[in-house]
Formats: sequence, C-alpha cells, structure tokens
Amino acid sequence: MVSGEVQNLPFRDESFECVSAVTVIQHIPPQEQVRALSEMVRVLRPGGYLLLIELIRGHGLHVFSRLPDDWIGQVSTLGVSLVSWRGHEYFLFDRCFVYSVQKLRALAGHPVSEDSSPRSVRAGGDHELPDLARRMYWTLRRITVALSVWAEPLLERVCPGRLATHGVFLFRKEQTFD
Ligand SMILES: C[S@@+](CC[C@H](N)C(=O)[O-])C[C@H]1O[C@@H](n2cnc3c(N)ncnc32)[C@H](O)[C@@H]1O
Repeated sequence: MVSGEVQNLPFRDESFECVSAVTVIQHIPPQEQVRALSEMVRVLRPGGYLLLIELIRGHGLHVFSRLPDDWIGQVSTLGVSLVSWRGHEYFLFDRCFVYSVQKLRALAGHPVSEDSSPRSVRAGGDHELPDLARRMYWTLRRITVALSVWAEPLLERVCPGRLATHGVFLFRKEQTFD
C-alpha cells in the first residue's frame, strides 16, 4: 500500500493498465481537480482504462461536484476518450423527503444549510429540531432510505443518468503509434 496525494502520484508515467477513483476527486477543490485527473492519466498506459465514480450534484464545504458533461469535458482534454457513462444512486424517495423538509423549513422561516451534498445530514435539516420532531424525522428517513434502496435497480434502468447523484465514467487512454 502506498499513501499519497492524488495531485502528486508517486508513480512513474504509464505504470498501470487501470486507474480508478471512487468519490475522491469530488472532495478536491475545483482548481486542483484538473491536476489530480492529469496525474491519473499520466500514470495510465496507452490503451488503459480510467474509471471515475463521482458526484454529479450537490455542493458542500468539502464537496465539489460537476455536471456529467463537465466531468466528461474536463477529462477528455487530457488525452483519454469516454467509453461510456451512467447514473448511479438515484435515491429517489429519500431525496424527495429531504427536499420537502428543506422547503417546509424555509417556508417556516428557518435558515437552510448551504451544504446540499446528497449525503449531508445538515441538508436534511434535522439540526435545531425539537427532540420528538428529530426522532420522527430519522424514523421517516429510515423508511425513505429503505424504499430508495429497493427502487434503485428499476430507477437505474429507466431514469436518465443525469438525474442520479453520482456518475460512473469509463475512459480509455489514447494509443500512441510510433
Ligand atoms: C468519500 S471517501 C471515498 C473512499 C473510498 N474510495 C470509498 O469509496 O470508500 C474520499 C476519500 O478521498 C480521500 N482524499 C481526499 N482528498 C484526497 C487527495 N487530495 N488525495 C488523495 N486522497 C484524497 C480521503 O482521504 C477519503 O479517503
């Protein structure tokens, strides 16, 4: 195991057949993301695959998502081509519930957190709720999460990828012929 920063990978050029990042680049500030992605491409062999699973919606203090076209456009400038992409984690019922709670709280004049990342607890707005309301909130979220997990295989088949919370992107590094 090697520990390091993705912006400065401690490996030689073209060392790997496959390089992946699962919900890592989304935590790096946008201006540093390009450097991180360039490093991943640098250590990839020509013809090798780059797999990214990253957020395509929501922002928070340490969450910097990009729209699917933005991930694809950014990575495609680095000498790799998109093979395919699809949406992942729609979490429909839970997101609808959290969104409704936020809207109701805003209507009632309560401040709404700027952290809108899909996993954010604050985005659920349970902070400063009275004890009973907080217990009800989390009981209902247990149900909406269970329903969301149950519906996920169907949603992955029928919903457009851009409605998901994450994108799964597969790229291939261009071959060089001397
Ligand atoms: C949401 S976790 C994902 C971890 C793992 N890939 C997974 O799916 O369980 C984000 C990870 O990104 C790592 N991370 C954040 N910034 C990083 C950076 N600049 N270089 C390397 N790793 C970083 C964090 O340490 C954390 O382990």
